This record gives sequence, structure tokens and C-alpha cells, in this order.
Amino acid sequence: MKDILQELEERRGEARLGGGQKRIDSQHSKGKLTARERIDLLVDEGSFEEFDMFVAHRCTDFGMEDNRPYGDGVVTGWGTINGRQVYVFSQDFTVLGGSVSATHAMKICKIMDMAMQNGAPVIGINDSGGARIQEGVDSLAGYGEVFQRNIEASGVVPQISVITGPCAGGAVYSPAMTDFIFMVRDSSYMFVTGPDVVKTVTNEQVSAEELGGASTHTRKSSVADGAFENDVEAMAEVRRLVDFLPLNNRESVPVRPFFDEPDRAEPSLDTLVPANPNMPYDMKELITKVADEGDFYEIQEDFAKNIITGFIRLEGRTVGVVANQPMVLAGCLDIDSSRKAARFVRFCDCFEIPILTFVDVPGFLPGTKQEHDGVIKHGAKLLFAYGEATVPKVTVITRKAYGGAYVVMSSKHLRGDLNYAWPTSEVAVMGAKGATEILYRSELGDADKIAQRTADYEDRFANPFVAAERGFIDEVIQPRSTRKRVSRAFAALRNKKRKLPWKKHDNIPL
Ligand code: HXC
Repeated sequence: MKDILQELEERRGEARLGGGQKRIDSQHSKGKLTARERIDLLVDEGSFEEFDMFVAHRCTDFGMEDNRPYGDGVVTGWGTINGRQVYVFSQDFTVLGGSVSATHAMKICKIMDMAMQNGAPVIGINDSGGARIQEGVDSLAGYGEVFQRNIEASGVVPQISVITGPCAGGAVYSPAMTDFIFMVRDSSYMFVTGPDVVKTVTNEQVSAEELGGASTHTRKSSVADGAFENDVEAMAEVRRLVDFLPLNNRESVPVRPFFDEPDRAEPSLDTLVPANPNMPYDMKELITKVADEGDFYEIQEDFAKNIITGFIRLEGRTVGVVANQPMVLAGCLDIDSSRKAARFVRFCDCFEIPILTFVDVPGFLPGTKQEHDGVIKHGAKLLFAYGEATVPKVTVITRKAYGGAYVVMSSKHLRGDLNYAWPTSEVAVMGAKGATEILYRSELGDADKIAQRTADYEDRFANPFVAAERGFIDEVIQPRSTRKRVSRAFAALRNKKRKLPWKKHDNIPL
């Protein structure tokens, strides 16, 4: 028995060494951790339960029968993050470049199936040369099986991808279908076709970093939701995110201890909105002052900064926040901000995360670029996402709520449950200047008359009371009491049930 146990330990030791010390050293020399080191940082100490440690590929072409390392380039299993279960796969670049064989894919599929059955998130740590070239179509079939599971798991369990190395070709489409993608700066990239193919086909010269590095995907393409300095920070931040998320679509949001009075008043908010309606202010100040302990986990921080999305807690419970940012493009809606916020709203809705919306929006961004790039269809995404969301929806208008954008931003008309407005709110079809120039075009030459007309319009519409008279605003509230009001609103909505008419699925404008 002793010999048998010793053999098991030897085999385990061999499996744990992946592609061997030389390749581990090479991985470290690139500033990257190994698959197992990443898992150790991601899950609670000692909680990782590994499966399929001895799986080896079955390929016999290209001399592969003599090269059958344990684990086949991916470490899979489950562990806990602050005591809550997550399933993890972590590709091991030291083993055949982390390339995906049929058996490598089978290991990933196995834990995805377990995650869906047992209702726990899947976290995929990607570091791979892509399809195992020696396996041909078997590898592609393996990817296909993973893709299908990504689709079926979408909206059932949260799926998170961390890109820590190469991720190229069709391989990018598995992370692309997950809920959140994070990248590590300077050591990860994602593209459908790499720099060499780009050069051959389009004659463009571009580096891998510029084509598909973390900066590109967090600032330009919006493929990634966040970028981190190194593997250590990435794992720590994923742990932080998981703390906000429910484990599956049948569970409520986690409730955590909180050390912040729900009715804490914030007198400084009374002066957040400047007297001049054209002056910007930082909407993030409002978000952090309302949140439990000022803790805000921002999603897509570097993309479409005219809208802010992320998670806070109120009374220890997760709330998704969407907020116009007056500091960027005056907080207007455009294609990018609509897409960004729509996807976030839909994530919250599938996982029963209540949504808090802060509104200061002067309308949609005008221009041929916007129109030609389809702002009609993309803007409709956010409108649609809000209207179909059945989770508790609480809205606070801080200043402007103009035109179509007023309706879009979780208004009463899109079944906002509780809609508050600060006294500084202006709910109208448009701003006073634009309105008078249209209504009184013939008087435009007479500056005094126009000034009077503008003042009359402001008196009538530059306030929340017309909307409040009609019940479109449930209450005009003091800015300082916002945290108390929204906390109570979500508490009142905890048992909300709203069903949409039966359908197979909707047809959101894509
Ligand atoms: C088999 C692979 C591999 C692959 C890397 N390796 N990629 N083995 N299939 N796809 C092996 C290498 O042979 C090498 O083995 C080890 O992994 C490390 O690779 P290096 O090239 O030495 O590392 P590095 O210089 O860091 O370069 C990494 C790399 C490069 C840029 C990823 O390896 C590369 O270009 N690989 C091919 C990428 C590719 O074209 N994949 C197919 C994409 S299409 P040894 O034994 O020497 O250590 C795709 C389709 C998916 O994935 C479709 C889904 C539907």
C-alpha cells in the first residue's frame, strides 16, 4: 500500500509540474504566473478541488503518442471565493502552449456542466496557443462544445474570463460570450487574426499589443471590461467582483455585513450640482457617497466614459448602477454608451440584481457619424434593455432628463418602480435655448424677446414639478437624503414580482 500511495504522489507531483521547470521559469521570466499559481491566488487557500489531473490527449499523429503530459494543458476544478463556490479552468501554457485538444476541451466542458448543474459561476483563465494544431478538427470540435456550453450557461451562471496570455483565432469567441472579460496589461492579447495575417491581407503593420492588447480592448473595442497590471492584481479583482454576484439565476444577490447606516445623510450632495446648468460635476461622487462604505466596482471604466456602470451595495446587498457622467460629452447618450449600458442592464436583469439609475442626460449625441453608424438601433438597445428588465428599478434624476433620453433612462414609462428627482432636475423635451430657438424662430433677431421667452420656458419646464404633477416622478427628494431614499426603495421592492408576456425569446435590436 505504501508503494501505491507513493506512486500516486509521484504521479501527482509530475502532473503539478506541468511542462517542467524550464518552461515554468520561462513563464515567470515573462512576468506571468503558472496556471496553478493563478488558481491559488483566485480561490480561498486550500479550497481547490482538482479534477482530471491525469487526463492525457489521444492524438497519435506527428509523434504525439510520445508526448502525453498529465493534465493536457489545463487545470480544472472548483474552489471557493470567500466561502462561495466557483468552478475554474486555468490553461497551462507550459504544457504544449496551453493548446486546446479534444481532451483539454472535454475537461473544460466537464466543469462547465457541473457549474450549471450545481449553480455556481465559471471562471476561465485563458493562456493558450489556440487549437492544438496536431489534432485538427478534433480540436475545433472541442472548441465548439465549449462554445455551446457558453451559450447555454449564459444567464444561468455568471461566466468570467481572464485573459492572461495569447487568445487568438476562433478561440476568442469563448471569452466573447462570457459576461465579463478581464485582461492583463502587456502580457495578454486577443484577436481573430494576428498581426502577420493582417499584414498579408490588408498590408497594415501593427503590433500584437496595438491590435489586441488590454488597452485596445478596454478603450477602443470594448471587448474587455477591465485591465489589470499583472496576474496577481487580476486574480484579486476577480475575487472582488465575485463577491458582488449571485451564484446563479435562481439565487438572490449575496447579503454581506455592512458598517454604514442606510439613512446616512450626505449634506455635501446638496451642492453637487452646480448653479450653472452647463457646468459639469463628477457623477462618481454621488455613486460613492450613496454606496455602502463608498465601495464601487466599476465595469468598463475606460470605455464610453459618458456613462458609468458598475456594482455597489446598499444594506449589504448588490445593486447595479448605471449613471450618466456629465464630465464626458455632457453625459449624452451615444452608440458606445448605449451599448455599454444595455449589456450591463441585461446582465443585472438575468441575475436578479436590482438596478439604480442616476440621470443627468441632455439627449442623444447629434451628428452624421452617429446616425450613419446606427445610433437608432444601438440607442434602442438601452431602451429595450430597461423596458424588459423586471428586477427592481430605482431612478434618481439629478439634473437634465431631456427628450428620448429621459424616457430611455429607466423612466416611469419603462416601468421604473420608484422614480425620484432632485429639486435641480429639469424634465423636458429639450433645454431652454434649443426649445426657444425652434418655437420662436421668427423672433430670433430680437435678443430681449428671446431672453424673455427662454426665461419663461425655464420657469415652466426647468424643474421636476411638471413631471411630479403627473406622477411620473414619485417624489422630489433632498440630495442629501439620496442614500436613505434609495435604500428604502430597494428594501420595499425586495419581493417584487413582474412577469413579461410568454415568448420564446425577445428580438432585441442587435
Ligand atoms: C500545438 C502549440 C500551439 C498550438 C503553441 N504550441 N501553440 N502546440 N498547437 N496551437 C506549442 C509550441 O509548439 C511550443 O512547444 C509551446 O507551445 C510554446 O510555444 P512557443 O511558440 O515556443 O511560445 P511563444 O514564443 O511564447 O509563442 C506563443 C504563440 C505561438 C504566439 C501562441 O506559439 C503561436 O503562434 N502558436 C500558434 C497559434 C495559432 O495559430 N493557433 C491556432 C489559432 S486558430 P514546445 O514543445 O516547443 O515548447 C484557433 C482556432 C480556434 O485557435 C477555432 C475555434 C473554433
